[in-house]
Parts: sequence; structure tokens; C-alpha cells
Amino acid sequence: MTTLTYIEENKGKFLDELLALLRIPSVSADSKFKDDVRSAAEFIKAQFEDLGTEVEIFETEGHPIVYAEHIIDPMLPTVLVYGHYDVQPADPYELWDSPPFEPVVKDEKIFARGAADDKGQVYMHIKAYEALIKTDSLPCNVKFMIEGEEEVGSHNLSVFIKQNKEKLSADVILISDTHIISNDTPSITVGLRGLSYVEVEVTGPNRDLHSGTFGGVVGNPINTLCRMIASLQNEKGEITIPGFYDKVEVLPREYRDQMNLAPFDLESFKNDLGIDSEKGEEGYTTIERTGIRPTLDVNGIWGGYTGEGAKTVLPSKAHAKISMRLVPNQSSEEITELFTKHFKEIAPNHVKVRVRPHHGGEASVIPTDAAGYKAAAKAMKKTWGKEPIPTREGGSIPIVALFQKELSLDSILMGFGLQEDAIHSPNESYGLFNYYRGIETITHFYQFFTEIK
Ligand code: BES
Ligand code: MN
Ligand code: MN
Repeated sequence: MTTLTYIEENKGKFLDELLALLRIPSVSADSKFKDDVRSAAEFIKAQFEDLGTEVEIFETEGHPIVYAEHIIDPMLPTVLVYGHYDVQPADPYELWDSPPFEPVVKDEKIFARGAADDKGQVYMHIKAYEALIKTDSLPCNVKFMIEGEEEVGSHNLSVFIKQNKEKLSADVILISDTHIISNDTPSITVGLRGLSYVEVEVTGPNRDLHSGTFGGVVGNPINTLCRMIASLQNEKGEITIPGFYDKVEVLPREYRDQMNLAPFDLESFKNDLGIDSEKGEEGYTTIERTGIRPTLDVNGIWGGYTGEGAKTVLPSKAHAKISMRLVPNQSSEEITELFTKHFKEIAPNHVKVRVRPHHGGEASVIPTDAAGYKAAAKAMKKTWGKEPIPTREGGSIPIVALFQKELSLDSILMGFGLQEDAIHSPNESYGLFNYYRGIETITHFYQFFTEIK
């Protein structure tokens, strides 16, 4: 039987199994789900055991890492597949049309938390591998490293990588955890942004006060926090933190023109999001703003009274969580320092400010002349009948920069998701087309990579 026939004949089984994996609420951020995260790791381990593949669960200080390998001949090239089985919290639950951990298939899509990010995409790799094994067609060596902490910063995976360089030796890393432009327009991600993430606390008076007795005479930390945050961007949408842009790579006009040739329909973009106009840094297109420019966004802001009815209070404290997406050459640590220094400097005398850094990571760029890129492009060309377009995406996978630094390996970001999959949002979904097309394309990748190498 050919590999493609095996895939065709097992589509139902492949779907049922993915649904079973999606039923496990492996939310890494919330300790309430700790046992479920482990169950997801066990589920994946069992997949490899069923195929007779050597597999181990590596314990970490946090969630476990599943590692499997199949070496058919040390002289042949080795592909290291990376992915994550953990998911984002599903909150707010009330905004889901069906419960996040009770997957349903509707309109040719699977709806569940993790459907696209990243269980559906990581599972394509396991099924592609299964199809190759069952049809005796695996052309090269393969290693799988599937972690449970991507959504919380991959700290323990970075420890594991530093301690297991020999074990992880490979010729390329293959990852499906990104988007394609559309189901008619295949693309390969060649850039990811970095991240710097901070939490700020602004304190005014030493206790909550009556807003009548003290309003207008004591500085309100929420008002002040809002002013401070507003000042971090000017009217042009530029970030005002001194030094913020110092290391940002200035890309030549031709490169930007090339990027803007990728199909992008601003009208449907706005329609999809229910907005009347897009907004971003002046002088750049939407494609450039997500791909090559850094940003600063408030992810959450709280303080004072937010319960039912009206309570008159002048709060003692105000808080916000702020993310900055970074581009190549900016250092996450340096940007966090610049932010912290600036935020303290702009604080007026009537408040005290604390800045607490969270996890972050560096941006990455993947060269299109790498063997892995060529193999991925050929594989997509074969399944789509079209040459894929290289794109730079706005999201972050910090471990990609670490792979480059610690293992000197490029990661090929051959993802199959769509922006409309709504990852991290309520009603996350993954198309059946994308799932099956992904499985097929991955099997071709192995073939082409082995030939090119
Ligand atoms: N799969 C995403 C990254 C992604 C999203 C890449 C969209 C390209 C397009 C990943 O699971 C993720 O969510 N990463 C986090 C960063 C991490 C440090 C928590 C992100 O981008 O917010
Ligand atoms: Mn992901
Ligand atoms: Mn994610």
C-alpha cells in the first residue's frame, strides 16, 4: 500500500484519535490541570509505543517532555520534529458555542481548545509518521520532541535542550505551529517575532480611600497608570521608550515590496474582525506591521472596584500586563530593561511603580536557501500545485531562537493553520482540509529532505 492510500483509508481513525487528544484539558498555565497535562503526554507516548517506536517521558521541574526517536541508518539525514501538547486556558468559557474540551466537527472544522494550536498540528506529524511506518516508507531518521510548556515560556525545555545536545543532534528541525495565508495560498513562515512581557503595579495611597473625601486631592493610581500607558505610544503609533528602536533591523525597500506582494485583502481582514479601520505604526502596511515591526500592547488592566453596581472608591493600586513583540536584533532582556527604566522615570511623584518581568524570548528568521526550506517548499508545491510564499508572522515561538543558538539548527516552520482558526480565543478551530493536507505534505517533506540532503 502506498503512504497516501494509507492516509486516505485511515482518515476516520486519524480524526477520532485527534478528538480524543483534544478531550484532555492540558492547560499548562493552570496548576488545576496538572494531571491532565500529564495525561496528554501519556497519550502521545502511547501513540509511539503502538508503532513500536522507542519513546520516553522526561520529567522536568514543570510538565513532562515526550521524546521519541527512530534511527533507520546513522548515515541518513535526521529530522527533529518539535511541537507542544499543552494549550492556552479556555477562558472565558461562556463565549464558546460548544465546550472547549468537548470537540465537535462542524462546517468541516474541528472546534476545541488546542485544535490548531498545537494539538491538531502536532498530531499531523504523528499520523504522517504512522503512515510512513505502516507502509515501510520512512526515508530518513526522525526524532520527536513534544513539550508541555510552550504556552508558558518553554523554560524547562530550554534546560532539557542544553543538557541533551548530543541526543538531539539532527539536520533540521520541523515545526507545524504557524499559519498559511489561506487554503488556496500555501506559505512557509520565515520569521517570528520575539517577546518581552512585563507586569506593572502602580501604588498611590497606602489603602483604598473614599473617592469623595479624597478624590481630587490624592492621585488616583488607575488614572495615572492610564496616562503612563498612553504615553508609551505617540500619534504615529511609534513606541516612545528611549532606545526601543535602536537595534531594529531596517529592511531595504525591495524586501518590503516583495513582502507586500503576498495576497492580503484588507477589506476581508476588517470584516472578519468587525472593525471599521485597521490601526498601526504610520508608514507601514499591515503585512509589515505584523512581520517586521515591534509593538507594545496592554494585555490586561485591573484595579479598584469591578463588581456589580457602583462603589465609590479611590483605589490604592492599579495593575497592567504589557507585551512587546520584538523583531530580529532586539534583545528581549534589553527591551525589558529599557521598559523598566523608562516606566519608573515617567512615574509622577504621587505614585510608586514596580515592574515584574515575565517570560520572553527572541525573534527568529529562517533562510529560504536552507535545505529544509527547499524540501518544505517542494512538499507544499506537490500537494497544492503552487509554490508557497515565504511570510513573516507576528506570533512568537522563542524556542526556535534557542534551537539556533544551542543546536545550530534552523527550524522549518511548515504550519497549516489559518488566522481564522482563532487560536488562544474562544471557538478555536482547525479545518479538516488543513489536518489531512498537512499529514500528506509532511510525508512528502521527509522524502524531499532526504533527496536534497
Ligand atoms: N503557535 C503560537 C505561536 C504563533 C502564533 C506563531 C501565530 C505564528 C502565528 C504559540 O503557541 C504561541 O502562542 N506563542 C506565544 C508565546 C509564548 C512565549 C507564550 C505567543 O506568541 O504569544
Ligand atoms: Mn503553538
Ligand atoms: Mn499558542
